[in-house]
Amino acid sequence: MRKLSASKTLLSVFSAGLLMTASAMAGDFAQQIDARQDGFLSFADSLKTMKKLEDGRDSDWEAIRALAIKNSETLATLPTLFPEGSDTGSRSRSTVWTKWDKFESDLSKLNGQFVDMASAAEAQDAKALTKAFKAAERSCKSCHRGFRVKR
Ligand code: HEC
Repeated sequence: MRKLSASKTLLSVFSAGLLMTASAMAGDFAQQIDARQDGFLSFADSLKTMKKLEDGRDSDWEAIRALAIKNSETLATLPTLFPEGSDTGSRSRSTVWTKWDKFESDLSKLNGQFVDMASAAEAQDAKALTKAFKAAERSCKSCHRGFRVKR
């Protein structure tokens, strides 16, 4: 929370572009790295929650739909959180930047799956929802194989 209000203050002083340039010159991408890791972590949490909310009898479709939409909104911020040179100190492989088109298309595939989850929830279609969960999980794995450093 504190971080958020600090960056808001900065944004009112500088344009977003100037802010990016300033941090690129300083070579300090801790903020972007934290933000993108938080984004991915929220996908993992959210998927777990959505699966619990879909219980086969008394599913909370509206909550599932809201989470799917939130994931899609978070995902939309991700491309801006990978400034060039920000692999150091993160789990991103340099392939993120050398194969940026593939990375972006993997992100957009996952976005499509979040949209499918929202539609399935709206239609109260458990089968379509499960299908979208499985497709998303394949997307996570496949992108990590190419773009995330193994531990
Ligand atoms: C387009 C590629 C891509 C997709 C799709 C993707 N990830 Fe990742 N994920 C990454 C990269 C790259 C990192 C490393 C981020 C960093 O440290 O810079 C990462 C990191 C993470 C992390 C670890 C954060 C940390 O602190 O190390 C988690 C958890 C995670 N992803 C979960 C998921 C889940 C769950 C999905 C699917 C719903 C998913 N990711 C989809 C590329 C992707």
